[in-house]
Amino acid sequence: MSPKIAILYHSGYGHTERQARAVEEGARSFEGASVSLIPVAEWEARRAELDAADALVLGCPTYMGSMSAPMKAFMDGTGGIWHSQLWKDKLAAGFTNSGSPSGDKFNTLVGLATFAAQHGMVWVSLGLLPRYRDEQGREINRAGSFLGAMAQSPGADHANEPVEDDLQTARLLGRRVAEAAARWMKR
Ligand SMILES: Cc1cc2nc3c(=O)[nH]c(=O)nc-3n(C[C@H](O)[C@H](O)[C@H](O)COP(=O)(O)O)c2cc1C
Repeated sequence: MSPKIAILYHSGYGHTERQARAVEEGARSFEGASVSLIPVAEWEARRAELDAADALVLGCPTYMGSMSAPMKAFMDGTGGIWHSQLWKDKLAAGFTNSGSPSGDKFNTLVGLATFAAQHGMVWVSLGLLPRYRDEQGREINRAGSFLGAMAQSPGADHANEPVEDDLQTARLLGRRVAEAAARWMKR
C-alpha cells in the first residue's frame, strides 16, 4: 500500500513550518508513503494533491487562542468541496504550535477536528501516552495532548524554534497517519 499524505499548514514566522516538516519526516519514514507539504496559501494551486490524498494533516499556529486566520480562510474557501462531500472518508489529523505551554492550543485542535468532521473525514488522534521518555531521553507528548500534536516555541519576539521533544512528537504523528492510511486503504 502506498498511502498519499497531504500536510497543509500555515506558519506566520516559520515555527509551525518546522513542526510541519517534522510531521512530513514522520510520514516519509513509512515505506512507500507519498507526502506533499503544502503551505495553506498554495491550497488552490495544489488542489489536485489535496483531492488525491488518502489523509490530510492540518496544522497552524495558535493565535489569540484559536487557529490562525489564513487556516480559517482556507476552511471557509472549501464550501463547494463540503457541498459535494468530495473529501469524505479521507483520514485527517492535526497539529498546532504556540508560545505558551498551553496558550489555548486545545481550542485550535478542536477547530481543525471539527472542520474535518464537517467534511465527513475520519479523525486520527495522536495516540501517544503523555510525557514519556524515549530512548534518546526526549519527553514525548510533553503537553499531554490526545486530539493532535502540540508544540511550544517559547520565548519573546518569536525567537525560538519548537522544542525538540515536540518535533519528535510531530514526527510520530506523521508516522501514525501514514500507517493508519495504509490500513484504511486495505479496507
Ligand atoms: C497574533 C498572534 C497571536 C498569538 N496568540 C497566541 C496564543 O493565543 N497563545 C500562545 O501561546 N501563543 C500565541 N502567539 C505566539 C505564537 O503562537 C508563537 O510565536 C508561534 O511559534 C508562532 O508560530 P509561527 O512562527 O508558525 O507563526 C501568538 C502570536 C501572534 C503573532
